[in-house]
Amino acid sequence: MLPAGTRTARYQRIEEIAEDYSRMDSCSRIFSLYLAVSFVSGFCFALILSKISVGQGLGSYESGFTTEIESLRPAISLVKTQFSGTLRYKDGDHLYIDLGPHGIRYFGIPSSEVDDAWEELIGDHEGEFSGDILGPDVLHSLHCLNEVRKILDSQYYYNRTLEGLNRGRRVHIDHCLNHLRQVIQCHMDLTPVRTVYFEDMNAEVGDFDQAHMCRDMEKLHQWMNKNHAASTDSPQKIPGDRVHRLGYPDTEESMSTWDSREREFD
Ligand SMILES: *[C@@H]1O[C@H](CO)[C@@H](O)[C@H](O)[C@H]1NC(C)=O
Repeated sequence: MLPAGTRTARYQRIEEIAEDYSRMDSCSRIFSLYLAVSFVSGFCFALILSKISVGQGLGSYESGFTTEIESLRPAISLVKTQFSGTLRYKDGDHLYIDLGPHGIRYFGIPSSEVDDAWEELIGDHEGEFSGDILGPDVLHSLHCLNEVRKILDSQYYYNRTLEGLNRGRRVHIDHCLNHLRQVIQCHMDLTPVRTVYFEDMNAEVGDFDQAHMCRDMEKLHQWMNKNHAASTDSPQKIPGDRVHRLGYPDTEESMSTWDSREREFD
């Protein structure tokens, strides 16, 4: 005769099995609930951590990045900006440009009015790039764009034809264009560009006058005007701030050479 224990182990009552199942069920339900809760809370925790570490590690567009001038952070303010200047067609081939709400012309036939607009935009801050004084890259980029604009009207600005300009100035313009390319890629604006249909032209034309989220340039101007005197009196220096003068590419192939017999800039 088999011991009682063995018997009950072999022949388990249906009710007991059901009870075991339901006990196991509730156990596993509790366990899966526990798993789910810990997964979700772990996920949230990781997300919060990553947000904090991204925020602290790299900075952001609205608060300033760690690669930017820290003292200029108070000047950062976001503003929704309606772009203007899309080429529009009217009466068949009549082309016109919308200069936007302020009607300021930055391009086109050169004039003192256009030069004043650029002066207002870049101002005397341009000079900050010549020494060891730091300036925000936005001013350098605008300076570069202005240089490209001026070379297109080289007779007006340099009393020379475009072909008559020396290689050094061309190298400077190439540097500017390459810099602007990197700035544009760096910011990677994802604002959608739509097309509009112009009946007169029977053509779809890109409508670039979209609303963009921008940093408010006006705020930077106000900040710099208020603090400019102080910042030029005691230029903010960082280690290696002369690197831009000494830094050359590692490989010869990546350097564009030009005829050094020409005067570089005149
Ligand atoms: C422009 O250049 C020409 C020579 O190419 C010279 O005679 C003239 O005086 C220059 N004008 C100015 C305003 O410098």
